[in-house]
Amino acid sequence: MTGVLTKALLLGVATLTLLHTAHADRCEYVTIGDEWTYNYGAVFSAPAPSDYSGVSVDLYFNRPVDSIDYYQGSAQKVDDQHFILIDDSLSGLAGSIIELKFQAHFPGAQPVVTAAAINGEPICDGAWTTVPPLQDPCDPTGMMPYDYAQVLCMGILFYEAERSGYLPADQRITWRYDSALGDGSDVGHDLTGGYYDAGDHVKFGFPMAFTATMIGWGLIDFADGYKSAGQVEYGQAALKWATDYFLKAHTAHWEFYGQVGNGGYDHSYWGRPENMTMERPSMKIDETAPGSELAGETAAALAVTSIVFKDVDAAYSAEVLDVAKELYEFADAKREHYHISIPDAAGYYQSWSGYYDELLWAALWLYRATDDATYLDRARGHYAEIPVTPNNRLEQFSWDDKRAGAFSLGTLLDPEFTSYATDIQTFLDWVKHEAPYTPGGLVYLDTWGPNRHAANVAFLMFWNANQGLDAAENRQWAQGQIGYILGDTGRSFVIGYGQNYPKRPHHRSSSCPSLPGTCHDGWAEKQDGPNPQTLYGALVGGPGANDEYTDDRMDYVHNEVACDYNAAFVGALAALVELN
Ligand SMILES: *[C@@H]1O[C@H](CO)[C@@H](O)[C@H](O)[C@H]1NC(C)=O
Repeated sequence: MTGVLTKALLLGVATLTLLHTAHADRCEYVTIGDEWTYNYGAVFSAPAPSDYSGVSVDLYFNRPVDSIDYYQGSAQKVDDQHFILIDDSLSGLAGSIIELKFQAHFPGAQPVVTAAAINGEPICDGAWTTVPPLQDPCDPTGMMPYDYAQVLCMGILFYEAERSGYLPADQRITWRYDSALGDGSDVGHDLTGGYYDAGDHVKFGFPMAFTATMIGWGLIDFADGYKSAGQVEYGQAALKWATDYFLKAHTAHWEFYGQVGNGGYDHSYWGRPENMTMERPSMKIDETAPGSELAGETAAALAVTSIVFKDVDAAYSAEVLDVAKELYEFADAKREHYHISIPDAAGYYQSWSGYYDELLWAALWLYRATDDATYLDRARGHYAEIPVTPNNRLEQFSWDDKRAGAFSLGTLLDPEFTSYATDIQTFLDWVKHEAPYTPGGLVYLDTWGPNRHAANVAFLMFWNANQGLDAAENRQWAQGQIGYILGDTGRSFVIGYGQNYPKRPHHRSSSCPSLPGTCHDGWAEKQDGPNPQTLYGALVGGPGANDEYTDDRMDYVHNEVACDYNAAFVGALAALVELN
């Protein structure tokens, strides 16, 4: 307190006392640029509160700073947390921008500027609040070489940051609040809940369903990993957040809402989901406008869910199974591409592989959930329908193309139908021996989000290894890919984990300061500093073909995060926990 009083007296500006005690979390006019260990470059850029001839800028830090380099003028150290930058050469009118570049050297944790004044006049308006940044709730476990259990915990935690609708009391991501509470009101239904797709806020049903299917598959077949990491309940909650929403979106017999939010409207808004005001239209499939990929994948997700909850909540398990059966019948009987019926999805998540893979996948999951052999026969029928054409080569396992997952599952559920085994072996061999790789060793199945493609195949490698398929080799391959993602090249691609992880993901809500600070239009998207909220556990898209990667918020190809990116990834982590 004495320090603050002395400063106020020294400067003869009583308001500075107020300024310093009513400190903001961060001053919105300082952005951190290049960061190194124990120092960073930063830019102070703010409108002058009044006309000026000569500038002195007071900077107050939340943590100790050793020294500041300011080459345009001079820097005075008042104490460890208060510096004054002085530049007599600057003059201008009120409202003109004063920009100073400086470098801060510090002894420990990174300090941020919490308050500032220009020529004695306070200027930070508290747009950054006093809410402390969330500490990672996932404890290290000591697992080596990477802490797979801790990353599994974080990877599931990421889904809490993507939640839409009313948030529950046990929500661990405390910088998120209730949002999109009007979803469905345009069509007279309650379509609140579910997940925002990625760095945006559209609820795209098709990839959301794949996300649920993969989280559920991991919970079933890597259950021991989930158990020993203490993540079973969290994993189930992540799954149920999607499937509760699917039950709401199933509004009538053969009627299912597959998207809420318009891609164009949504993507032109950069801000919090809590503060969206654009229209969020609800779009459905039904008997007159069907959609087999969407209905099929949702059927698969709900069949998986019925297995996950069989011994946990029998009533829920039965309820989701009924809907799964109905949606599969709908998908099979009324065959149409879902983007024809929900055209807005075409620009984002058109299923290029068509619907035979979802029909096959749904039938196999329904067999696993029911033991009803007619589903196995129908699965063989769907298998036979998959077109064999040069541009239909199997080169990925993803939200679009489920074939490799279905073939894997087929080897377990229908071993007599040997095509499944031949096909999955062919695919995994192709990935290991013929697919492109970055020089650093990441399998490079797509320029868009290669990390998740690697994680998706890693899941299948672990799973097939457990079935006895080239076990040692497939496990080694998968562990290598997850190793690349977690830090083999000196950087981690999982936010909040490991060395040099991404700090500027293309993700709207985490780029905003804590409430009640406004998420200035344009500011949060483009400011150079780290996202104010650490989006723990999110896997970013990944490097270019030569391992090059820039931690750039504007780069949605390499630096976005998404629900589907994490879905098989968490399963692969559970597999690694089992092997440790
Ligand atoms: C933004 O959302 C938060 C959380 O719901 C709310 O407290 C705040 O008032 C909203 N701000 C605006 C400008 O709507």
